[in-house]
Amino acid sequence: MSRLAYVNGRYLPHGQAVVHIEDRGYQFADGVYEVCAVLGGCLIDRDFHLERLERSLAALAIPKPMSRAALLVVLGEVVRRNHIVDGLLYLQVTRGVAKRDHLVPAGLRPALVVTARRIDLAALDAKAARGIAVKTLAEIRWRRRDIKAIGLLPNVMAKQEAHAAGAAEAWFVDDDGLVTEGASTNAWIVNAGGQLVTRALSHAILAGVTRRALLGTAADLGLAVVERAFTPAEAMAAREAFITSATAFVTPVIRIDESPVGDGRPGPIAMRLRLAYLEQARAGRGAHANHA
Ligand code: PDD
Repeated sequence: MSRLAYVNGRYLPHGQAVVHIEDRGYQFADGVYEVCAVLGGCLIDRDFHLERLERSLAALAIPKPMSRAALLVVLGEVVRRNHIVDGLLYLQVTRGVAKRDHLVPAGLRPALVVTARRIDLAALDAKAARGIAVKTLAEIRWRRRDIKAIGLLPNVMAKQEAHAAGAAEAWFVDDDGLVTEGASTNAWIVNAGGQLVTRALSHAILAGVTRRALLGTAADLGLAVVERAFTPAEAMAAREAFITSATAFVTPVIRIDESPVGDGRPGPIAMRLRLAYLEQARAGRGAHANHA
């Protein structure tokens, strides 16, 4: 079965899906994106993703490529035509095609690309059951990390550096010595009192959709959450640590740099949250009712 991609109004075979060389996304990383999990053929937290997409577009004054209703049709078609049961949907909106000039010309038509691929849920579950290591690195990104912009070079570099050190994720540490977030995930710890701690929303981090939904899951499980920043030292001394994203769901962290977290095994609270999160997501319950 061949993969299809949506490119500016057309569904094309993946290998023939191309954009113009003067697309501003290509030249300036002038665009935004979303990654949305698909479970059982449903887009998880669809409305949260669309809300964030609209916020990112508005922050950069890129017009919406189409109405929310029309976009939902396209997203559904890409999932359906690719026969995705469990997978990931990627959507990217760039400012459009124009002669290379930093100044944005008037009247540009935004470009929309949507792709989807399958994921191996069993492999992701196995990874979570093992837990991952993270490596702390200096925060070198720009100051509008709340915008889900496609310019991800620092994130790519950080992920590479973490990988070279045997870690699956990098945690950025800002000039105040506080963890901002991961290269492609939000960062959490469980403190000695059993409270979940994750950095409060601001321009410093991406407002993760999984983070948002998990706040609901935590409330459903009666777990207290404190939204504040923490240092790597606090995380290393924490009972548990974990990351969240549309691709990792909830994945336990068992080592930060050279320090094991807790007893060096995935924590029970993180694993409980993962299970509850996935169960609610699949059923469209709790905070996930927005994808039903
Ligand atoms: N990354 N922080 C950053 C920097 C991210 O890139 C992401 C998502 C998150 C988690 O957000 P969410 O829960 O909405 O996935 C936090 C996606 C998955 C990616 O770039 O592949």
